[in-house]
Amino acid sequence: MCGIVGCVLDKKVAPTILKSIKKLEYRGYDSIGIATVTDTINVKKGQGKIDEVDSKLDFEDMGGNIGIAHVRWATHGNPTKENSHPHCDCNNNISVVHNGIIENYKDLRKELMDEGHQFKSETDTEVIPHLIEKYLDEGLEYLEAVQTTIKRLNGSYALAILNKDMPDTLIGVRNESPLIVGVSDNGNYVASDVPAILNETNKVIYLKDKEIIRLTKDNVEVMNLDLEPIEKEVTKITWSPDRAEKGGYDHFMIKEIYEEPQVIKDTLSEAEKIKDIVGKFKKFNRICFVACGTSYHASLVGEYLIESQTGIPTEVMLASEFDYFQNTIDEDTLIIFITQSGETADTIKALKKIKNKAETLAIVNVVGSTITREADHVIYTRAGPEISVAATKTYISQLVCIYLLVAYLNEDEELIEKLYSISKLSEQLLDNEEHIQEIAKKYKDANNFFYVGRGFNYPTALEGALKLKEITYIHGEGYPAGELKHGPLALLDENIPVVGILPPGPSYNKTFNNLEEIKARGANLILLCANDDTQVDGMGDTLRFNPIIDEELAPLLYIIDLQFLAYYISIERGIDPDKPKNLAKSVTVE
Ligand code: F6R
Repeated sequence: MCGIVGCVLDKKVAPTILKSIKKLEYRGYDSIGIATVTDTINVKKGQGKIDEVDSKLDFEDMGGNIGIAHVRWATHGNPTKENSHPHCDCNNNISVVHNGIIENYKDLRKELMDEGHQFKSETDTEVIPHLIEKYLDEGLEYLEAVQTTIKRLNGSYALAILNKDMPDTLIGVRNESPLIVGVSDNGNYVASDVPAILNETNKVIYLKDKEIIRLTKDNVEVMNLDLEPIEKEVTKITWSPDRAEKGGYDHFMIKEIYEEPQVIKDTLSEAEKIKDIVGKFKKFNRICFVACGTSYHASLVGEYLIESQTGIPTEVMLASEFDYFQNTIDEDTLIIFITQSGETADTIKALKKIKNKAETLAIVNVVGSTITREADHVIYTRAGPEISVAATKTYISQLVCIYLLVAYLNEDEELIEKLYSISKLSEQLLDNEEHIQEIAKKYKDANNFFYVGRGFNYPTALEGALKLKEITYIHGEGYPAGELKHGPLALLDENIPVVGILPPGPSYNKTFNNLEEIKARGANLILLCANDDTQVDGMGDTLRFNPIIDEELAPLLYIIDLQFLAYYISIERGIDPDKPKNLAKSVTVE
């Protein structure tokens, strides 16, 4: 995920475009760049947050009434100045900012390099200005050169494009990445999202995939891929700027939960890379995961999956406890470090200690983060920036990577197919939201919760309880369902709600019996089960799931309802779920 903005105004564009791109910093913050047109294309760009780079480069100083800007969340190539957008063609006539992923960029890059084009970055984006240059050189009109370029791109893209020789015209294109148009009396805009332009105008045109727009200061034209004009409606936005930044949601956390179906899809696009990495592993006879917090819970799902599916002995260590166990690690161990931020001090310290002793793999969300420079192999989760402190979509993307890893370790095609069907099913889950709100109202005043599950879903219980603790300040305890009878049953009464995770599968009957024992102690049950489960009728509140999701895949989906539950209890208790007290997004101390 990156953020792009473009404007053509009746005045110098730089101050406005800088203000606008700052509103998209939530979409990416590892580098920023702006291009404007005067008698030439001027580009300023650098690595870092917007204010840091601006204090060195002074963006407002740039001349020109037309410009494009970009904040980057790196996907191809590290977050360096060279990889920052905008990217230009060989002669600096065309400048492009891009949000999305060009899947066939390697082939295009090779073709263009063979034809003599010179590339300055490692990005997928840079093929776009070079393709436009190529088609202009072949004699096409500007718009036709853009059209021919787009037809050669596979993947997702929102683009804003400048041409030195057409200094009053900005072209935008959308395909599977968001792009909107802003219309005003003082000029026109394109942007990845509404907050970027809301200070300038509240009149917006929503684009569909494969639509092209041509903007001048006084005119907006929308076309299809055949360059035929399309009539579009102008919508008036009534959100406040703060709400707009959250995509119309009240908090980043709920916005990020809603992004989860897309995140599953995006992370599945890493399948081929994961397959390549699995092919490069040396021989190992043991796997060890090292992680903290939510990433530790994802690792536990990994342990259950790997041991049950591949028979490889696997264990999970908390990064902060790693020192006490590292002596058993040898060169036959594969160590997998999971961290969304890539900056967690406990995890990085563990990796640094062991990296010369065993083969290491990092599963991480932030490209170019510290851990990516230390591990032998890196798999990127494709969750995009996560702003809310509580991890939600990054957890889901970690799980998708783990399932893919297991599928390739085990050469299990069926599991890969199931993962693709999961990305569709996850959309249905968002339907439970209203019912979860009612449950949240009912239990908001409880002081303690238990979360119980078995096997693959014991980690789901732990993660559900962690979400509750973090953002509601209620004590939540995750437990293996079969273990309550060895002690904690003594605590249970009608004041302690118990969340039972009960998907169909081999563990069902045992878990069901444990939940009956709990019910017999007077506790109120909240049950996560299949749509067609009639055994649970009358046992408590139910949250229903598609019956084809069995216990092996349930961790990927059942957690979404537990994230909603924590979110709505937090709202009921008047807490800001995005900024829980005492917690930070990236924990850089041991
Ligand atoms: C919980 C949460 C934390 C992190 C933990 C590790 O919602 O976000 O428990 O999971 O601090 O962070 P990373 O994954 O960045 O290493």
